[in-house]
Amino acid sequence: MLATELTAALRRQGFDVQIHDLPEFDISNVEHLRQAVDAADVVINCAAFTNVDGAESQSELAHRVNAEAVGRLGEIARKSGKWVLHYSTDFVFDGRLDRPYAETDAPNPLSQYGKSKLAGERLLEASGCAYCILRLQWTYGPNGNHFITKLLKRAQSGGPVSVVDDQVGAPTATAEVAKTSLKMVEKRITGLYHFANAGYASRYDVAAFVFERLPQRVALNRCRTADYPAPAARPLNSRFDCRKIQALLDEPIKSWQESMEQYLRQL
Ligand SMILES: NC(=O)c1ccc[n+]([C@@H]2O[C@H](COP(=O)([O-])OP(=O)(O)OC[C@H]3O[C@@H](n4cnc5c(N)ncnc54)[C@H](OP(=O)(O)O)[C@@H]3O)[C@@H](O)[C@H]2O)c1
Repeated sequence: MLATELTAALRRQGFDVQIHDLPEFDISNVEHLRQAVDAADVVINCAAFTNVDGAESQSELAHRVNAEAVGRLGEIARKSGKWVLHYSTDFVFDGRLDRPYAETDAPNPLSQYGKSKLAGERLLEASGCAYCILRLQWTYGPNGNHFITKLLKRAQSGGPVSVVDDQVGAPTATAEVAKTSLKMVEKRITGLYHFANAGYASRYDVAAFVFERLPQRVALNRCRTADYPAPAARPLNSRFDCRKIQALLDEPIKSWQESMEQYLRQL
């Protein structure tokens, strides 16, 4: 999802982007990784095992892709002096804090996915390469399947839609992630940053916002996360404090509502 949007944004800026993806490129294959890193000036890693529930039963694979491969990527990049941009997630937190999470807050992942992504962050840092990690949350965009496409599909089915109102965060447009990533690439920014569209909403609030803009009426009900047990536990508070990255950007980060309006208009 993110890589497609990012590639387009980089190419619009005149970057020569080489894409490496499954099945011909496997990030957990050392030789594939070495060749890809050697051929690049900078490395942007969007590859990840992103099936959050699937990671509970496939934790070894999740760890291989999201942690070990990222550490190895860092080691190869350090040896050749390459800067790496990598993406992580709000799932590194347990969501029990009563305020937005800053980069200095202690992670405590609830799921195998979150654990594997946190291990990836730590291995990348330990590799000694020049790196930038952007932690993202609730991303959506024109490519791939995500919370908003699922809402739209459920709206089309005609029946009432139930959405949890106790998970709070910010839906974040891949277009905004791409724009911010460009800044990071141009300035070779290093360090750990939280990035999300501005403002906060529950998943229920997001669904209400989306459904209000559809031509048909959709019956929307509130429910609680505990009512829908899933294999992987999700943090209830996913709010990010984005002041650290905002200080590097030339303009205010867009509100989630503004980005969502734009996305819905383009459908
Ligand atoms: N989506 C979100 O809400 C969200 C939130 C926070 C952070 N993030 C992070 O954002 C980054 C981009 O995720 P995304 O949303 O773009 O997810 P995505 O659409 O699932 O993209 C991940 C890509 O990685 C590929 N991949 C998986 N295993 C691989 C391997 N062994 N070697 C090479 N490629 C492999 C996948 O290929 P296949 O499709 O063939 O498996 C897929 O194309 C990830 O680091 C993710 O953890 C996402």
